[in-house]
Amino acid sequence: MDLLELMKKRRSIRSYTSEDISEENLDKILSAGLLSASGRAIRPWELIVVRNQDTLRKMADSRDHGAKMLEGANAAVIVIADETKTDVWTEDCSIVMANMHLMASSLGVGSCWIQGRLRKSAGGDSTEEYLRKLLGFPENYKLEATLSLGMPENVPEPRETAKELWKKVHREVY
Ligand SMILES: Cc1cc2nc3c(=O)[nH]c(=O)nc-3n(C[C@H](O)[C@H](O)[C@H](O)COP(=O)(O)O)c2cc1C
Repeated sequence: MDLLELMKKRRSIRSYTSEDISEENLDKILSAGLLSASGRAIRPWELIVVRNQDTLRKMADSRDHGAKMLEGANAAVIVIADETKTDVWTEDCSIVMANMHLMASSLGVGSCWIQGRLRKSAGGDSTEEYLRKLLGFPENYKLEATLSLGMPENVPEPRETAKELWKKVHREVY
C-alpha cells in the first residue's frame, strides 16, 4: 500500500479483541522501532516488551487516566532512554514510538500511544516511578511512553488531510 494511504488509515485503537498478536508481527513492530533515525546515531533507547496479563493490568494504573486500555491489551512496549547519552532522547524516543505505531497499523494490529513522561499514576507517583518499580529499569533511564497493542475490536474510518490542516502549512514565510 502507498505510504500516504497507510498514514491515513493509522488511528489510535483503544479496544482490543482477545486474539493474540503473532510473535512474527510483534517482531516486525519492534524492528520498525529499532530501525528509527536517531540523533548522531546514539540510539539511547531501550524497549521493554510486556505480554504478561497481570503486568498489563497493573500498567493500566501507571496513569491517573488515559491508560485503561492496557487492561484489555495483548502486549505493550515501554520506551525508555538513557538521558545521560544525549540531549535529544525525547525526540529519539518519539520516532521509535511513531514508527512502531505506524508499523502496527500496517499489519492490522491496533495500537495507542500512552504518554508517560511528565504524567502521574493513579496512586499519585509519577508514571515513570510507577513503571520503574513494576518493570525494574535503572534510575538513569527516563520514561518516554508506552505503546499498547492488540487486535482491534473495530477499525475507525481513515483520516483525510482536511482543508483545515492545510492551513497549518506556510510557504516561504509564516
Ligand atoms: C504525544 C502523544 C501522547 C498521547 N497520549 C495519549 C494517552 O496518554 N492516552 C491515549 O488514550 N491516547 C494518547 N494519544 C493518542 C491521541 O489521543 C491521538 O493520537 C489523537 O486523539 C488523534 O487520533 P488518531 O491517532 O486516531 O489520529 C497520544 C498521542 C500522542 C502523539
